[in-house]
Amino acid sequence: MTDRTKILVTGGTGYIGSHTVVELLEAGYDVVIIDNLSNSNRDVLDGIEKITGRRPEFVEGDCTDLSTLRNLFTNYPGIKGIINFAASKAVGESVEKPLLYYRNNLNTLINLLDLMPEFGVKGIVFSSSCTVYGEPDVNPIDETAPIKPATSPYGNTKQISEEIITDYIASGAPIKSIILRYFNPVGAHPSALIGELPNGVPNNLVPYLTQTAAGLRKELTVFGRDYNTPDGSCIRDFIDVVDLAKAHVVAMRRMLDGQDTDAIEIFNLGTGRGVSVIELIDAFEKATGVKVPHRFGERRAGDIEKIWAVPAKANEVLGWKAEIPIEETMRNAWAWQCHLAEKK
Ligand code: NAD
Ligand code: UFG
Repeated sequence: MTDRTKILVTGGTGYIGSHTVVELLEAGYDVVIIDNLSNSNRDVLDGIEKITGRRPEFVEGDCTDLSTLRNLFTNYPGIKGIINFAASKAVGESVEKPLLYYRNNLNTLINLLDLMPEFGVKGIVFSSSCTVYGEPDVNPIDETAPIKPATSPYGNTKQISEEIITDYIASGAPIKSIILRYFNPVGAHPSALIGELPNGVPNNLVPYLTQTAAGLRKELTVFGRDYNTPDGSCIRDFIDVVDLAKAHVVAMRRMLDGQDTDAIEIFNLGTGRGVSVIELIDAFEKATGVKVPHRFGERRAGDIEKIWAVPAKANEVLGWKAEIPIEETMRNAWAWQCHLAEKK
């Protein structure tokens, strides 16, 4: 089914945004991206065009600036839906620079919500995170699990954002929203033309792992070996970024076309499978045949011991399911790392 509906994707040259733009274009949507390129670059547009044969409209601009957004909606009339990826996302940095995180993440959302009724935009999909659950009392967790006090300003921006959307819709604003709580997005497009762009020394596991496998880093430190898990390392729900991207297309369609759907809906996006850090390293080595030098180190402050999703609501209500096996995800992450090395 094709659809010429026009969608605004904020942060659309970023990691998850770029993969989602590919899926939207392939589903036939028209896409306008706004990104201030604070954590991505223009070359991503070439990758998107090579994969899909279509180039999205691109506005270089900052979503915290209301007049920039107003101009965008004026210049690209008829936008029906928004996917809001634009945010700062480094947990550690958010502790150092909380105001930057509150200003960027919250002002972006408030500006978008503010302009939606005026420009007839019907719905917004919001990128939230399983970080809102904190350390779960039980695993796996569904959407009814309690929200725990945030352990970082970044996590707090996600909790506050969810509340802002909820309050705005409760006030009678004529919009709908779907809030997607991502677990751990990893991997890259199978074409190796887009992926996660490393910015300095990676904080996240998979970019650090692939850089170590490529010889750019000496060894990977596994943070903690004495957690209450079968092999002592932390457990996460690693979800392939392409699977994740596809969920946004389904969510958008439901939000815009669904007649009787609630004005606000929340979905966990995960595989439903917990994989430990050690198991992930093993999966990478098996899938690629490349060794990852690693050693155990101290626990990392603030890490959750184990968390994985009950994705049943997304499976049943959205009709979406994570399908890509972890080995394939690891092969794609490695192909992307090799592509980055070739470009240098
Ligand atoms: P990313 O940094 O790759 O992408 C975000 C994009 O937004 C970047 O291209 C950046 O330049 C842009 N941006 C930031 N502030 C902006 C602003 N004010 N105006 C315009 N553009 C702006 O991050 P990502 O991994 O693709 O994450 C996308 C969203 O998903 C974020 O909201 C993030 O918090 C959320 N999320 C990510 C993860 C994860 O592990 N990657 C997990 C849960 C939730
Ligand atoms: N890890 C290592 N070594 C490393 C990097 C990570 O052992 O060099 C471990 C961590 O200790 C953790 C696991 O790998 O146990 C995953 O760590 P990541 O940093 O890749 O991901 P997190 O689960 O800590 O956090 C991610 C995003 C956050 C988001 C959260 C929940 O970085 O932005 O998922 O969505 F809030």
